[in-house]
Amino acid sequence: MKEQLAEIIAKNVEGLSPDDILSLLEVPPKPELGDYAFPCFRLAKTMHKAPNLIAEDLKAAITGSLDFIDEIKVQGAYCNFYIKKDLFVKTMLEAACKENFGGSDTGAGQAICIDYSSPNVAKNFHVGHLRTTIIGNSLYKIYSKLGYTVHRINHLGDWGTQFGKLIVAYKNWGSKEAVEERGIAELMELYVKFHTEAEQDETLIEQARAWFVKMEQGDEEALSIWQWFKDISMIEYRRAYQLLGVEFDSYNGESFYRDKTPAIIERLENAHLLKESEGAYIVDLEEYDMAPCIIKKADGGSIYATRDLAAIFYRKETYDFVKCLYVTGQEQKLHFAQVFKVIELLGNDWAASQLIHIPYGLVSLEGAKLSTRSGNIIYAEDILLEAISKVKEVIEEKNPELENKDEVAKMVGVGAIIFNDLYNQRIKDVSFKWEKILNFEGETGPYVQYTYARCSSLLRAVPDFDEAADVDYSLVTDLEAMELLKAINKFPKAVADAAEKYEPFLISRFAIEVAQAFNRFYNSSRINVPETNIRNARLKLTAVTRKTLRDALALLGIDCPEQM
Ligand code: ARG
Repeated sequence: MKEQLAEIIAKNVEGLSPDDILSLLEVPPKPELGDYAFPCFRLAKTMHKAPNLIAEDLKAAITGSLDFIDEIKVQGAYCNFYIKKDLFVKTMLEAACKENFGGSDTGAGQAICIDYSSPNVAKNFHVGHLRTTIIGNSLYKIYSKLGYTVHRINHLGDWGTQFGKLIVAYKNWGSKEAVEERGIAELMELYVKFHTEAEQDETLIEQARAWFVKMEQGDEEALSIWQWFKDISMIEYRRAYQLLGVEFDSYNGESFYRDKTPAIIERLENAHLLKESEGAYIVDLEEYDMAPCIIKKADGGSIYATRDLAAIFYRKETYDFVKCLYVTGQEQKLHFAQVFKVIELLGNDWAASQLIHIPYGLVSLEGAKLSTRSGNIIYAEDILLEAISKVKEVIEEKNPELENKDEVAKMVGVGAIIFNDLYNQRIKDVSFKWEKILNFEGETGPYVQYTYARCSSLLRAVPDFDEAADVDYSLVTDLEAMELLKAINKFPKAVADAAEKYEPFLISRFAIEVAQAFNRFYNSSRINVPETNIRNARLKLTAVTRKTLRDALALLGIDCPEQM
C-alpha cells in the first residue's frame, strides 16, 4: 500500500521520485492523524507554492483513485492518509503471518564473520565477556535472519608470555589435583602468586620467558601443560555457553595463528612498512595520529596484534567475508584501529569498510550482591545461576503447580540477564539491579516472556482454532488492535536497522512495544468470546503476536516458555 501510495503521489508532484516519496512517507505519531502522512515542505521550492496548498492540491488529485484509501485530510503542510481499516488489517496480518516475517534475503550468498566472546585462557569468564557473548550471539541471529552466512568465531586468548609464567608457577607451587578440582580459580591464583614471588626472585621472569620460547618452538612438555590449562578452562567456558545457549563454529584462537605470523612479517617487510625501534619491530602510524603498531617484541616474541593481522588474512581467504565484526570492550579501540590500518596499508582497500570494531560499555555491579568464589572476582556463570535461582523462588511462590519449573526458571533467569544487557545502546554501561531486571511488569525480558506465555495460554484455551484460516478482518479494526498490528509491522525495519547499526537494542525495544500493545489490546477486548467470528479474529491477532514475540526474542538469544 505504501508503495502504491508513493507511486501515485509521485505522479502528482514535481521533482520527487517514488523512492524519494517512499522515504518521506511517515507513520504519524498519533492514530488520529491517519496511517500515513506525506510532508509537503520539501516541494515548496520546486513547485513554487506554499506547502499547505500543495497538500490541498494533492488531496484533490488523489481522492478517489486508490481503493484502499478511506479518507485524505490536510493538516498544515501534511497530507494525511486514512487507509480503509479492514484492508489495512488484512495486509498487515498477512504480512506478519509469513514464515520469515521480519527477515529477508538481502544477505544471501554473503559471509559475515563475528569474532566474539573470546575469553583469555586460564582467566575467568567475567561479566565483560558475558556482554561480548550476548551481543555477538544476537548479531549472529540478526544477520542470519537477513540471509547472511554467519561464521561465529571464538578467538580464544590462548597464546602469549603469560603461559610461560603460568607453567613456572604451576611447576613451583601448583598441584595437579588442585588445578583439576578448582579449575580457573586455581590457575588465577597461581598467576597472582607468580607475580608476587617474581618481585623477590628475578630469575622467575627469565624462566617464564624460557618456557614460552619452548612453547613457540613446539616443545612437547610445554605444549602439553599449556593444552591441559586450556582444556581445564574450556570446561568452565562451555558451562557458561550452555547456560546462555551460545555456540561457535570455530574456536581458532590466538594459538592457531602462531605459525602464520612469520608470513605477516614478510609481507610487512616487502611493503617496506616494518621499522626497527628499540630492538622491536613496529609499523609507524604517526601519520594517522596513532601510536605505532608493535609487530614483534625486542625479545623476538610474537604478539596479540600480529596474530590479529594473521587472523584477518586467514578469515578473508577462508570465509571470503563481506564484513568481519569484532565485539570487544572499548579499551581495545586503539588496538583494532591500528590493526585495521596496517591491513589497509598493505594494500587492502576493503579494510576500512569491512573490518568493524563493535565496542560496548562497562558492567556495573552495584546492588548485585554476589557470592564470589575467590577474592572479588565476579564469574559470569555465577550471575546466571543466581538469576535462575531467584526466578525459581518467584515461580515456587506464584505458580507452584508449574510442571517444568527448572526449565522455565532457566529461560526466564537467563533471558532476564540477556534482555537487560541488550536493552540500551551497546556503548552505554549496564547496571545490575535484580529488582529491575527481574520485574515481570517492567521493560524486561520476563515481561515479554510473560506476554508470550499469555498468548500461548489464550490459544491453548481454544484448541480447535486454526491459525492459518482467514478471518473477518473488519472485526479487529478497533484502536487497540490496529495499534498492535502497526507495532508488529515494524519488525522488518527493526531487524534491518539493528543489523545496519550493529544494535540489538532496537530489537528489544521493538519486543517491548509489541508486548505493551498486546496487553493494551488484551485489556480492552476479551478474546475468548462466544461469537466465533470475533473470537477467531482476535485469536488470529494473538497468534501473530505470539509468533512475533517469539521470533524477536530469538534474535536476542532468548527462549520463550509456554507457561510461567
Ligand atoms: N581475548 C581478548 C580479551 O579477552 C578478546 C579478543 C578479541 N578478538 C580479537 N580478534 N582480538 O580481551
